Amino acid sequence: MPDLPLSPGSSIGILGGGQLGRMLSQAASRLGFDVVILDPEDNSPAGRVSRGQIVAAYDNETALDVMGRVCDVVTFEFENVPASSVERLARAGALVAPGPMALAVAQDRVSEKTYLNAVGATTVDFAAVDDLEGLRAALDVIGLPALLKTRREGYDGKGQVWIRRKGDARRAWEAIGARPAILEARADFERELSIIAARGRDGAVGLYPPGENVHEGGILRTTTAPATLSPAVSRRARAIAEAVLDGLDYVGVMGIELFALKGGRLLVNEIAPRVHNTGHWTQDGCACDQFEQHIRAIAGWPLGSFEAQARVEMTNLLGPEVEQWRTASGEAGACVHLYGKGEARAGRKMGHINRVLGPARQARAR
Ligand SMILES: Nc1ncnc2c1ncn2[C@@H]1O[C@H](COP(=O)(O)OP(=O)(O)O)[C@@H](O)[C@H]1O
Ligand SMILES: [Mg+2]
Repeated sequence: MPDLPLSPGSSIGILGGGQLGRMLSQAASRLGFDVVILDPEDNSPAGRVSRGQIVAAYDNETALDVMGRVCDVVTFEFENVPASSVERLARAGALVAPGPMALAVAQDRVSEKTYLNAVGATTVDFAAVDDLEGLRAALDVIGLPALLKTRREGYDGKGQVWIRRKGDARRAWEAIGARPAILEARADFERELSIIAARGRDGAVGLYPPGENVHEGGILRTTTAPATLSPAVSRRARAIAEAVLDGLDYVGVMGIELFALKGGRLLVNEIAPRVHNTGHWTQDGCACDQFEQHIRAIAGWPLGSFEAQARVEMTNLLGPEVEQWRTASGEAGACVHLYGKGEARAGRKMGHINRVLGPARQARAR
């Protein structure tokens, strides 16, 4: 096991070579670390800005053993890494953060919501669904409309179908591929917020001021941060972050998606045990962004500042929208971030623009 805090010159491994891995790698290299990426796709966005990439599947035992030997700490940029891979890395000698418990909870929407409610982070009502009969029974309990989601491996709104009438049950069940699922009550939210929180190896928890998110077709469009929150809602957000991260003995950055109901009540939608798209604004709004914060936490460094210095609107560039770099690059206050992905398929996250709107205002009651 490596000595902590990890000294510059040490190696950090990242499972996953997408844009989150790329921005983590850039932050790690700023702090003097070497980064090795594991990703099955050669020449990945993260691999191209790192010391090296191992091109292999996430469950390739030889690759995991090499990663575990050459890296002092290993982390991941997406939550669908097999739990057995994390165990194998630990056996090969690397510290792995976040740990296997956070991964297991976040990989399954039913265990995730069960965990959240158990630590007092309330969610919508839900029921586990294993077959069509079970779905019909769940609809009687949850009511209509309801949202059917696959338990595992959904992202960007994929694997989700709204059910508006009981007669739609069969069609919905088939549309998600007749797989183990969760049925959720509809959250009648006024707006969507998210918390980007971090917990250090010493158990210290911090959070950035929550941002307000707009999704279209299940994909994030914009985040505006800091969101305007009453002091009571700000306190509640902090309490949620502390309960959720402490309960998992978590190390690293976590994204916590929230539904804000009328009257200020917060429900937790889902958690992501990694840096999060709704935290990209911190790159141009904070002295220490979410990527550096994650590297600090897993390397056993003190956490950095969570304070917002500017108000920022982050806009995702999806598919062909990546061409907006041409105009945005000449726009005052617009910070262009591109992921180096080749093919601009519809809906693919190609980059984002952080528009600095002005100095950060103190959260005001409303
Ligand atoms: N129970 C719900 N009630 C209302 N809207 C929902 C509910 N669950 C999800 N949504 C909407 O769909 C979006 C994507 O769902 P989410 O569960 O976050 O899945 P993903 O893992 O694909 O991000 C949410 O940000 C929200 O806009
Ligand atoms: Mg989500």
